[in-house]
Amino acid sequence: MMMIKLGGSALTIKDAKSPTIDEVNLERIADELTSYNQDMIIVHGAGSFGHIYARDYEIGSEVKDVNDHLRKIEGMCITQTSVHRLNYMVCRKLQQKGIPAVAIKPSSFIITENKRIAVCDTTVIKNYLENGFVPVLYGDAVLDYNDAIKFAILSGDQIITYLAEELNADKVILASDVDGIYTDNPKTNPDAQLIEEVTKDTQLNLTSKNSHADVTGGMEGKINELLELADKGITSQIINGEVEGNIKAAVSGSKVKGTIIK
Ligand code: IPE
Repeated sequence: MMMIKLGGSALTIKDAKSPTIDEVNLERIADELTSYNQDMIIVHGAGSFGHIYARDYEIGSEVKDVNDHLRKIEGMCITQTSVHRLNYMVCRKLQQKGIPAVAIKPSSFIITENKRIAVCDTTVIKNYLENGFVPVLYGDAVLDYNDAIKFAILSGDQIITYLAEELNADKVILASDVDGIYTDNPKTNPDAQLIEEVTKDTQLNLTSKNSHADVTGGMEGKINELLELADKGITSQIINGEVEGNIKAAVSGSKVKGTIIK
């Protein structure tokens, strides 16, 4: 079973001021995914459909008072509806290409505790897989057991690493908007070098901040998730989903330029 995360930056215009889909990329990525030849779960990020609201309503930060609680409840509803809308567009596109994509809404069955998944029953997902469906999950705004924050933003990266372990994935691919992990931010430093293999001992400079609002920690958050997975014996790979042919090669088992985390 293979799991692939489609970064929000590949599917949406992440810097946009309001939720904006990247139609061209979505069309191409959906086409490339039709090359899959084994059981597959897709998890996608939120991009401009989620981060803007999550930041505006400060989901995941301490609830200050009753009014702030009410405001955050409103923010939860708005964020959930927005990422759900993106998920609808992704699933529709996949279905048009012949992929039996079935939408699974994370906030309807996952609760976090201090922003880490605490409740998540995978029975339904397993059953869909056994019946030949391709479950499609996504980064979402969820309930959190910590009463001080009450709500949290759950990244697609955390979902994919949790499910990979729980469902014993053979392969985990993260399609991002960069070729992999670099010695420095390749968007600001032209001398940055691609690192082909990362382990927990690799020294990384991840201090450069992303220009867009990324409430789930950008590349640093991603690497931490994947190192945790590696610790449990599951190797993953970061590839550039914006390079034509990369996702197709990855899902059909061919070699792709990127960073392997083990
Ligand atoms: C974020 O999910 C979810 C919300 C902001 C609601 P991700 O962290 O997986 O999204 P991307 O890939 O960075 O856009």
